[in-house]
Amino acid sequence: MGRRVTGFRIGDEVFGSNVGGGGLAEVAAVPSKHLVSKPPNVSHEQAAAIPVAGCTALQGLGDRGRLTKGQRVLITGASGGVGSFAVQIAKSFGAEVTGVCSTRNLDLVKSLGADHVIDYTVEDFTQGEPRFDLVLDNVASHSLRQARRVLVPGGKLIPNSGLELRSGRTLGGVGRMLAALTASAFIRKQGRPYLSLSKPADLKRLVAMVAEGTLAPVIGRTFGLSDAAEAMRNLESRHAQGKVVVTV
Ligand SMILES: NC(=O)c1ccc[n+]([C@@H]2O[C@H](COP(=O)([O-])OP(=O)(O)OC[C@H]3O[C@@H](n4cnc5c(N)ncnc54)[C@H](OP(=O)(O)O)[C@@H]3O)[C@@H](O)[C@H]2O)c1
Repeated sequence: MGRRVTGFRIGDEVFGSNVGGGGLAEVAAVPSKHLVSKPPNVSHEQAAAIPVAGCTALQGLGDRGRLTKGQRVLITGASGGVGSFAVQIAKSFGAEVTGVCSTRNLDLVKSLGADHVIDYTVEDFTQGEPRFDLVLDNVASHSLRQARRVLVPGGKLIPNSGLELRSGRTLGGVGRMLAALTASAFIRKQGRPYLSLSKPADLKRLVAMVAEGTLAPVIGRTFGLSDAAEAMRNLESRHAQGKVVVTV
């Protein structure tokens, strides 16, 4: 006998993440505690983009990075799933945001609200004077030590890359995460790696921002369920623009 669901009625539109489950399907059984209501003016595609990337960005900047108004934050991979949320969320915190992306994505990242953009194909963000209070690193293009160079005293590097244990980049990523974990015990500027959780409170906060128009998930490409394999390949290229969404 299944347990009684409270808080929702039959027919309610909901979204969320089946923690630890994953998968793509027309019908899914999910514990109701992992779901929140989808406002009518937020599309299913927008809602689907939120749980992993939105929560990772919010928790990296907020819970881990303790980003506050007026601080200067650098976000690498600013055109990707996590990065495109992070740029907008950091702006909503009142931070001065610098996004690192490639030439083709400069306009996109500016349109998300970034105050400054660095084109990684022509400029190395680790060069120059220390100038950031926080770095949210979604790419791992440089060593931890190089990335920490751009931090002012009291600044923090939050490493957010290489945590997807099913991706082809796993082994290098795990080594980097272990290095970050070890370094965080001795180096104040080194933040610990983290695994994001699709917490209902964070989902509600993010979807409310989307509903009120202060956050716009960037949906780079959508694929039908029958093209799910291609969607995964697109994601694993690590050059996706915004989120890749599978529609059913
Ligand atoms: N902490 C967690 O629990 C958690 C959860 C989810 C994801 N993650 C991690 O977060 C990271 C980002 O994930 P994602 O889904 O946002 O990735 P993604 O959607 O694949 O985005 C990657 C983006 O980075 C850009 N990029 C590639 N090389 C770059 C470079 N050298 N400098 C700056 N930008 C560069 C790409 O743009 P171009 O094509 O223009 O290069 C692309 O738009 C991944 O490492 C993933 O493992 C962590």
